[in-house]
Amino acid sequence: MLELEKGREGLRRLIYASRFSGPGDPDETLRTVVAASIQNNRLVDVTGFLLAGEGRFLQWLEGPAASVRETFEQISRDTRHTDLTIIGDDPAERRWFRDWNMGQHRLGAQDQALLSEVGLERFEPAGLDADRAERLLTRVGERHLRGG
Ligand SMILES: Cc1cc2nc3c(=O)[nH]c(=O)nc-3n(C[C@H](O)[C@H](O)[C@H](O)COP(=O)(O)O)c2cc1C
Repeated sequence: MLELEKGREGLRRLIYASRFSGPGDPDETLRTVVAASIQNNRLVDVTGFLLAGEGRFLQWLEGPAASVRETFEQISRDTRHTDLTIIGDDPAERRWFRDWNMGQHRLGAQDQALLSEVGLERFEPAGLDADRAERLLTRVGERHLRGG
């Protein structure tokens, strides 16, 4: 897919936060959503990361601008979550999550230090600005890459 990035100026990164709205169990929804995302995103060359916990989502989508826009439009029509807040939507120079059509992590007690680093006591991602959301997602992503 590298060659397809010849339109590098067309690479975009969108970060948004949302809140689980049911029905059912957020963890089960996370599994279903990630499975669908891996399949769909591969087809449109979108990569990214989905962080979940406390009934909240924080997602990073990156890829060709049109693909990111269309993927986000589809996501925003999904009734399993609500209160979508766009935190960042910018041209990107490179991909952070190039190996993952959708990486994911479920936050747990062991992640408290990471949250504190970006000024959160609880996982309430809608209040983050783009810099802090980026830091949180890339830190969690790096840890996954290291296998930690
Ligand atoms: C928090 C959240 C994140 C999602 N992320 C993606 C995604 O990255 N890519 C995707 O195709 N669908 C994503 N979805 C699912 C879409 O909203 C939609 O259900 C899906 O694209 C439909 O795919 P299907 O027609 O193959 O079932 C997400 C849904 C939620 C609730």
